[in-house]
Amino acid sequence: MAAIAAARAIASAPQIAACFPWSIDMYRGPEVQPFAVAPRVTPTDTIPVHGGEAPMSIGEATIKMHNPLEPTPQNLAKGHVQFDTYCAPCHGDNGQGKGPVAHLLMKSPKNLITGASKNLPDGYIYGAIRNGVLTMPSYANEMPIEQRWQAVMYLRSMQAAQKNKLAGK
Ligand code: HEC
Repeated sequence: MAAIAAARAIASAPQIAACFPWSIDMYRGPEVQPFAVAPRVTPTDTIPVHGGEAPMSIGEATIKMHNPLEPTPQNLAKGHVQFDTYCAPCHGDNGQGKGPVAHLLMKSPKNLITGASKNLPDGYIYGAIRNGVLTMPSYANEMPIEQRWQAVMYLRSMQAAQKNKLAGK
């Protein structure tokens, strides 16, 4: 009798009946405690262990980072391409801050030829690309380390050309 009553009770409560007894399966199942089983060893060469840079502020980059690339025509030419691709839209082809999208920005891009970066070390420009500066976004994801330095090198060459022009050289 009791069994019939229980069956009726379950049948008249469709929500409970629908999930009983599977709803408690998770309590009964075999369990593996964290680290009860040693993690599998990662096969060699599946995660990067070389390269990469520790996080650093633009101030640290200014002091610590130096351009590791040789000033070859190839690096300069690549830097030109990087600059035209990633910097010129805002800073302009000539670096003077009047790129085609500059008018859309909340704050105007700086003049990179006559502005503060002219008198600051390479690491400052590198840090600006890597971390962004105030309203300027970071280009760390778009430009790998080598390309950032190539862009720095090209910008330096434009600054030097301007200096020579002013000096009448
Ligand atoms: C989306 C537009 C945009 C792009 C693209 C961009 N910048 Fe900027 N950049 C800015 C703005 C805006 C500022 C000024 C930020 C502020 O003061 O809030 C700035 C500032 C800088 C400064 C600091 C200048 C100073 O006088 O202190 C440097 C250096 C710089 N950018 C370099 C670069 C380089 C190199 C690239 C290409 C890799 C680049 N920027 C790409 C918008 C941009």
